[in-house]
Amino acid sequence: MNPQKEVNWVKGQDLPAGADSEKASAIPGSGDPKRAGETKRAGDAKRAGETKRAGDPKRAGDPNRIVITGTAGLLGPDVARHFVECGYHVVGVDRVPPKENICQENLLADLTDAGQVYSALSGAMGVVHLAALPRPGIYTSHVTFANNVVAAYNILEAADNLGIKKAVVASSECAYGFCFSRHHLRPVYFPVDEEHPALAEDCYGIGKIAAEKAAEGIHRRHGMQIISFRLGNVITEPMYGHFKGWIHDPFKRVLNVWNYIDARDIASACRLAIEKDGLGCDVMNLAADDNCMDIKSRDLIRAVFPDITDIRGELAGYETLYSNAKAKKLLGWQPAHSWRDHYCPAG
Ligand SMILES: NC(=O)c1ccc[n+]([C@@H]2O[C@H](COP(=O)([O-])OP(=O)(O)OC[C@H]3O[C@@H](n4cnc5c(N)ncnc54)[C@H](O)[C@@H]3O)[C@@H](O)[C@H]2O)c1
Repeated sequence: MNPQKEVNWVKGQDLPAGADSEKASAIPGSGDPKRAGETKRAGDAKRAGETKRAGDPKRAGDPNRIVITGTAGLLGPDVARHFVECGYHVVGVDRVPPKENICQENLLADLTDAGQVYSALSGAMGVVHLAALPRPGIYTSHVTFANNVVAAYNILEAADNLGIKKAVVASSECAYGFCFSRHHLRPVYFPVDEEHPALAEDCYGIGKIAAEKAAEGIHRRHGMQIISFRLGNVITEPMYGHFKGWIHDPFKRVLNVWNYIDARDIASACRLAIEKDGLGCDVMNLAADDNCMDIKSRDLIRAVFPDITDIRGELAGYETLYSNAKAKKLLGWQPAHSWRDHYCPAG
């Protein structure tokens, strides 16, 4: 049976799957003509004019001011709410108005326009870039690719030039390529971790890989900390009602290797990635600790991929098959939400 034909999709979701990413290390920018004369740059308002900006909270690199993009979307509101609750001054940026009034400031901006991006990021200490077209097939492929890659590049380029030290970028499990492959691409092994090859062939997944590569390159300039989270299937609290439609059928949700991640758990990971130091530039999967099924993980593999025998680690119960171990280890992050705590059979 071809699992790809059996999958049900939840409206508005990115349902897919991942690659290998080298950890980039900073290379001193001594050969960079734009950067070479750091000492000469004392009068350069763009980077060194802290004293000139002291009276202007928007431009002074306020340690609490964070820009979050995509705040009118599915994931953005939960991330923005978490940062606000943790005491940050959040500037929400999207090209359409937010549905909820969460952020202290909201800006309408098209992030494919570099000028608008520079203006929106001005004065921030960090940026969490979530805005994107969240899967292929909504727009034509070149529009999806161009929007997502140019927006991510503009954010990181502007952040670097404005002296912002920390950035988080929403990547996707789609970097691995399982979800939107024409060739029924299957995992090489389980659980799928960040070492698994990134084999996306669609405009959305390729765009996510391109943004991760842009992050590596921009990090090499001055060492800006950039964490790309390969998000699993994003679930907001009202969406737990959908689970009853798939939890007993192993062929449903297979394209995202039965993973999911609560938007509130993404929010806490984003905050940790902004608050922690010394992370460099890296890629991390984010998933809940358990699978999204009422079937044990080993039984899911047996039912759908009986020939995949490279199973790494213990699989005794309902453990996620989309490894979240790296984010837990490097961020000290722990997902707090499981569908099992929310599920209501009658709901
Ligand atoms: N939803 C999922 O299951 C899922 C899974 C993996 C990764 N992701 C990623 O997570 C992020 C958030 O996804 P989502 O589900 O909230 O998507 P969404 O479509 O609900 O929200 C994305 C927001 O980005 C905005 N946006 C898009 N292009 C823009 C541009 N050029 N300028 C300004 N704003 C722009 C849209 O207006 C929208 O409000 C995306 O990067 C997506 O690729 C989502």
